[in-house]
Amino acid sequence: MELSQGLITAAYIIAALLFIFSLAGLSKQETAQEGNNFGIAGMAIALYATILDPRVSNVTVILVAMAIGAAIGFRLAKKVEMTEMPELVAILHSFVGLAAVFVGYNSYFEAHSVMSSFTLTDQAQIEQNIHLVEVFLGVFIGAVTFTGSVVAFGKLRGIINSAALMLPHRHKMNLAAGVISFLLMIMFVSDGGSNAALYAMTAIALVFGWHLVASIGGADMPVVVSMLNSYSGWAAAAAGFMLSNDLLIVTGALVGSSGAILSYIMCKAMNRSFISVIAGGFGTEVTVDNDKDYGEHKEVQAEQVAEMLSNAKSVIITPGYGMAVAQAQYPVYELTQKLKAKGIEVRFGIHPVAGRLPGHMNVLLAEAKVSYDIVLGMEDINDDFSDTDVVLVIGANDTVNPAANEDPTSPIAGMPVLEVWNAKNVIVFKRSMNTGYAGVQNPLFFKDNSQMLFGDAKASVDKIVHAL
Ligand code: TAP
Repeated sequence: MELSQGLITAAYIIAALLFIFSLAGLSKQETAQEGNNFGIAGMAIALYATILDPRVSNVTVILVAMAIGAAIGFRLAKKVEMTEMPELVAILHSFVGLAAVFVGYNSYFEAHSVMSSFTLTDQAQIEQNIHLVEVFLGVFIGAVTFTGSVVAFGKLRGIINSAALMLPHRHKMNLAAGVISFLLMIMFVSDGGSNAALYAMTAIALVFGWHLVASIGGADMPVVVSMLNSYSGWAAAAAGFMLSNDLLIVTGALVGSSGAILSYIMCKAMNRSFISVIAGGFGTEVTVDNDKDYGEHKEVQAEQVAEMLSNAKSVIITPGYGMAVAQAQYPVYELTQKLKAKGIEVRFGIHPVAGRLPGHMNVLLAEAKVSYDIVLGMEDINDDFSDTDVVLVIGANDTVNPAANEDPTSPIAGMPVLEVWNAKNVIVFKRSMNTGYAGVQNPLFFKDNSQMLFGDAKASVDKIVHAL
């Protein structure tokens, strides 16, 4: 069975609308599930309409490829831990980039073999030039997305050092890569297609993508992941132009612009310059001095923390990546119930990039049935720390680091942080004195009002609950 062009267009419009509803749903936690369902429905319609397009042959091959892809995707989605989500997203972006490169090469060789065999009219010449620009840009964006995402995956996985790679003249190299690629594009189009220019640009774009992400430091990784998300959207849109598929253009543009907006919001939340981050850390000169002597830290035991909490009137919990690793959200919920039963005010302070993906902490707390009304964003809670008796920093580190406010040379300088040190007492739950994701020492641990509770966060919270 094949669909008429009119039906396909109608299906594409419906799918595009469903994708927009999906994005709207995903913007709020309460409607996120609905948003997901819209997305699934949109994708199902899009696939159905595309496969039944009369231009599509070899449906069996497509179905077999889809079945293999779906089986791998299903297995990965079931297996992946929440903390590994960003790396999964990063590697999936690399596939989109690679696909755009293949589509570009295929589209170029297919059209080139036909066009180069006869003389073109003016109109056909313009169309050919437009097509060549599409191919060139599609391959360029795809190649940058591919290697950039592979490096992001490596950094998030810990296979590649998360610190920024600081090659000498790195900004000049990036600029040169951009300028040379632009000149190659002019050559490519004016020659009516030149294999050498395309190959040279592909090599440059692959190295450029790798270098761009390698030069971005650990603390900016959240922005990098959403920026690559945006690039993968533009790569898909470029593929849509080459394949003359309107839905792929619309979907790519939706992903591209929503990723760009998310990157911008995250940059604002972290007080980072958007241009600086996307240009591979342009304009940032930072030093990491982890040997500085901050003095001695103090240790505390779970039983003492339980007593301190029993005497408190107000408590704020600031969770971070360590709470996710330890899966401590369930005992943390029990702890909040116990404290509430004693008439103690308990609230949560959530940093916008706590954990390893936006909204990570909110999802974990919702999973453990913590009610939304006691979970507050950083801006809403930061002024309240000075009136708080005890702050429990559970597996957070960079997001509560005072160096962001106090040390202009720190890699996290200027990033807004939860100002937990203003509270009367701060208890830090972690396993060692190791640094957080950004790889910088945290002076909070050495403050007079701070005490370290060493051990796995889940075990520590369990002990406190037991003691209470
Ligand atoms: P981090 O700064 O990464 O600190 C987490 C802390 O948890 C570590 O110091 C670690 O110390 C501790 N920890 C790990 N496992 C633990 C366990 N089982 N029990 C107790 N403690 C444990 O976390 P954060 O404050 O949430 O900050 C997030 C960081 O990740 C930021 O730098 C952010 O830029 C970056 N990042 C964020 C995202 C997004 S989008 N949110 C994506 C990628 C990266 P020990 O090893 O000593 O236990």
